[in-house]
Amino acid sequence: MVARRLADESVQPAHFAFNKDNAKWAEWKIGLYPAGRQQSAVIPLLMRAQDQDGWISRATIETIATMLGMAYIRVLEVATFYTQFQLQPVGSRAHIQVCGTTPCMLRGAEELIDVCKSKIHQDPHHLSADGTLSWEEVECMGTCVNAPMVAIYHDTYEDLTAERFGEIVDAFQAGKGASVKTGPQIDRLFSAAAGGATTLLQKPTAKREKFVAPAPAPAPAPVAVQATPVAAVVAAVVTAPAKAKSPAKAAPASKDSKPAEAIAAKAAIAPKAGAAAKPAAKPAPKAGGAAETLFATPKGKADDLKMISGVGPVLEGRLNSLGITKFSQVAAFSTDDIAKVEDSLSFKGRITRDDWLKQADALARGGEAEYIRVFGKKPR
Ligand code: FES
Repeated sequence: MVARRLADESVQPAHFAFNKDNAKWAEWKIGLYPAGRQQSAVIPLLMRAQDQDGWISRATIETIATMLGMAYIRVLEVATFYTQFQLQPVGSRAHIQVCGTTPCMLRGAEELIDVCKSKIHQDPHHLSADGTLSWEEVECMGTCVNAPMVAIYHDTYEDLTAERFGEIVDAFQAGKGASVKTGPQIDRLFSAAAGGATTLLQKPTAKREKFVAPAPAPAPAPVAVQATPVAAVVAAVVTAPAKAKSPAKAAPASKDSKPAEAIAAKAAIAPKAGAAAKPAAKPAPKAGGAAETLFATPKGKADDLKMISGVGPVLEGRLNSLGITKFSQVAAFSTDDIAKVEDSLSFKGRITRDDWLKQADALARGGEAEYIRVFGKKPR
């Protein structure tokens, strides 16, 4: 990897400003952090700036540092550390990041780099002759199981051959990048085994048989152990089932106590005097139980919420069970609504991270066509 430095002064713009929508978004994002912790918004703001202009300039760094009350050098450190941030102008239609770490290298990354050299530019971080493409080699991007792979903006393209990668490069150069399938380029589901499952092949039966606990094994004979403090506990645990038959010696475990509790009581493993009692465990949700409905389910046919990137079939079902069936509902989420939904589904930060509101808004206003206009690619 080459040293990550700011671009030459000759290409640095004099100033940077978020556009109207992004400025509003940045204000909202900064407001999510507790007072005095606004600096934590530095990565999201840098990423938004890059999504707007394609790369991070010196002016971008200085503007964001000012917005967050940070020294310029602190923001420079972040921008130069993460290879997700581009420090020089990139191709107008694609900047391609080729993973060159061991698993990808062993599976053909060098051939992908040859494609970049022949179709884009001999050297990384240089624009193609028509200015539409640029490329670089980066370290592992966490998709090793589907090696070799490349990333283009927020998407990855996996299980590549030189031939397939060449087609993808051509499509982006022609301005047809939005139509290219993302993820695995072979017949593989996400990162499941290529060629289909090899384990867990048994089909679930329609009706589950009632689980019958096996009869308890006969109690083992007591083991003679020297009565050191630790050994005494071990001996007590080992012999506990047999001793449990002697109520006179039993510790105050109730008749209904589970075996483990009885054993602990027998072994005198009690909390130290004065030790704080462990809070009661949160009751587990009933198996298969529906989540509490938080929203009034609107009338009419439900929208296909899976068109929102980040929502799969399981999550869609869970959202529906909360009363959320329409894009317009998601688009209108307030900060409170986001917190309630995330709390209920236990996925903190996901709605904001995947920008559900903006996606849902585009889908509610104009379906797939509007989504493509806003995001430059098809919804899922
Ligand atoms: Fe290439 Fe991990 S090694 S994605």
